[in-house]
Order: sequence, then structure tokens, then C-alpha cells
Amino acid sequence: MSQITTLIQPHGGKLINCYLSEQERKENLLKATNLPSLTLSIRNIADLECIATGVYSPLEGFVNKQEYNSIVRDMRLPNGLAWSIPVTLQIPESEAEQYKLDSEIALAHPNGEILAVMTVNSKFKPNQRFEAQQVYRTSEEAHPGVKAMLQEGNVYLGGPIKLINSVPYQDFLDYRLTPEASRVEFARREWNTVVAFQTRNPIHRAHEYITKIALELVDGLFINPLVGQTKSDDIPADVRMQCYQVLMQKYYPQNRVCLSVFPAAMRYAGPREAIMHAIARQNYGCTHFIVGRDHAGVGDYYGTYDAQYIFDEFTVDELQITPLKFEHAFYCTRSQSMATGKTSPSTKEERIHLSGTKVREMLRSGKTPPPEFSRPEVAEILVSSMKLTTV
Ligand code: ADX
Repeated sequence: MSQITTLIQPHGGKLINCYLSEQERKENLLKATNLPSLTLSIRNIADLECIATGVYSPLEGFVNKQEYNSIVRDMRLPNGLAWSIPVTLQIPESEAEQYKLDSEIALAHPNGEILAVMTVNSKFKPNQRFEAQQVYRTSEEAHPGVKAMLQEGNVYLGGPIKLINSVPYQDFLDYRLTPEASRVEFARREWNTVVAFQTRNPIHRAHEYITKIALELVDGLFINPLVGQTKSDDIPADVRMQCYQVLMQKYYPQNRVCLSVFPAAMRYAGPREAIMHAIARQNYGCTHFIVGRDHAGVGDYYGTYDAQYIFDEFTVDELQITPLKFEHAFYCTRSQSMATGKTSPSTKEERIHLSGTKVREMLRSGKTPPPEFSRPEVAEILVSSMKLTTV
């Protein structure tokens, strides 16, 4: 007899879905061809996808001024719901004139295809320095998230969207579960408790260790790598996907793991992004969320555990997904296993932990990362991808 699966509620109680009925779609498409058209950036497209499919529930569009101010100042929407990063549609001031307040505009893919209609109910010029300080904890342009935010333009358009055409993705087509689909999949697998793993890297031994500890506690593991825009020196998503696939085949029990991509762009906002990542995973139907060392961090902008501490700023009623917090994991040569300072008395010299930067340096100079750091199958994929890019 099958078990009854009760999935966690989406954030705010309702899964948003901006798709239209076929009739409405036809009407809106006809109308949209005569509307002022705004060509979306790669980041906007990722956000549009996340809004339209409910990954960013309860958002129903790009944030308006009131929502923006409330998120930036208090990490909450005006109705009090937790939300940590404003999802914005920005344009340069020189292009702002054509998009009128209280009117509809068409949102287009760079290939010309109209993806959505948006009702512009807000048009404003915020203090981007303040946004940077609040969201990224720095206004330095060297920070990749701040840089990307400034590059998108200084006039912000907000309002609800209606999706006319799905984003025309060419890659990972078998791994693009929407929250609606992931919820169906979890129910099919009879998982009541699911832990989500966000990553923008290949899965190395430390990642494997923490995901497997988490998996000891719950029914299933949702490996949900971010495949939207990342900085140029991060490992490309297609190479990472090969690593995840090979690991799942050989090192994880396949019936306990589900792999699906997270379409969002990386913001490198550390603590605030950890909250946003957790909310998105609740919307996918996950009950737990892994937060390890320097989650979504970059450079030295955040303390090692800042992304864990920020969860204390929300009550359990505000964030229903449970963070599973992990200390910095490493390979311990004394016990010959993965460990953290919580489980190993090893000295500094007995701990092998390589930073992503160090690994990239090794790969660039043709060296294979050691087995204490990466499974050989993963190391092999990384070395050969590096050879391809340096040919
Ligand atoms: S992130 O930008 O997506 O956070 P990464 O892919 O490196 O980067 O990390 C994925 C998750 O694993 C994050 O929760 C991060 O904190 C955690 N993590 C990465 N490396 C370690 C480690 N050595 N020990 C513990 N947690 C780690």
C-alpha cells in the first residue's frame, strides 16, 4: 500500500503560475506585438522563468517600488513575508522614456520572441549604493553581484507578468523540473522529507559528505545545481552536469536522489542569497536545505558562517524550510575519512581542504585534483574539459 505524501506548502501558501490558457495566450500574443518591447538580459530571463513557474512564489512579477524598499530594508515583503533579494527589471535611463507607467509592455527574448506581457505599475530610480550595502554588504564594484546589478541599469520597472511563451532553453531539457513537476516527482517517490542541495560547483568530496549526512536524516536528496549566469571563472554548467551525472550513477543510491537544475543567476550575495535559495527550494517541495561554509559567497566579503547566522533573523513560522547547517568539511588524513572540526580532532596539517580557486589553478596547469578532494571520475571530466577549453 502506498504511503500518503504530504508536501510542504509553498512560501506564502500558493504556488504561483503565470502561464495563460490557450485562448488568453493567443489574445495576449496578438496584443503584445503592438506594445513597446523590452529585450530581456540573460539575468532577467532567468528571473522571468523563476517567477512564471513559481520558483519565486509568492512573487507574481518583477518587484515594484514598495516591495523593493521593504525587501532591501527589512528582508520582508510589505505583507510581512520573508524575502531577501529584490528581483528587479532594470533598464538604462536612456531607454526608460518608452515604457510608460500604468501601461503594458512586451518582454522579449534576445532572439526576438515575445515571452511575456508585463503591466508596469511601478517605475523608479532607487539608491543602488544603499541596495548594494544592504543586499551584498558592500558597494564595491569588484563584487560580481554588485557589478552585475549596476550594469543592468538604474531605472527599475515593476509589475505582474503573464507568460506567453516558455523560455526557449536548449540545454538540460531532461532536468528542468518546475516546482509543480518536482512536487509531483517527490510524491511519486513517496518522499515526505526532502533535502535540497544548492551548488554552483562540481560536487567534490566535501559536498558529497554533507549531502550524504543530510540524506541519512530525510527521505530524498534534491540536487539542484544553479545553471543560470555565473562569473566567468566558475566551472560551466554543462561540465558540472556531467560530474553530477557520473556521481549519481556511481556514488549515490539513485532511488534516493533527484537531479534537476535551478535556472536562476548567481548573485554571490552570501547570507541574503542563502535565504532566497532556501525559499526557492521550499517552493520546489523541499523540507530541508543545506547551508555549509560561505554559502553563495565570493572572495572575502562574508564570514564563513554568516549565511547560517542569517537564518536566526527569521522565526520558524516565517521560513518553513529547515536549514541544515554544516561546518567546513575536509579530508582528515588521521581518520582517513571526510570530517569537520565537530567530528575530528586532527591537526591543521592532517586536514586536506582545497579551495575552488586552488583547484582551478591545478586544472589549468594540467594537474588532477587528488582523490581526497574529488572522486577520480569527476577529476577526469574536469581535466578533459580544461584541455578542451585551452586547445
Ligand atoms: S554555492 O555558491 O552554491 O554556495 P558551492 O557550490 O561551493 O557554492 O557550495 C554548495 C554548498 O556546499 C553550500 O551550502 C556551501 O556552503 C557548501 N560547502 C561547500 N564547500 C564546503 C565545505 N568544504 N564544507 C562544508 N560545506 C561546504
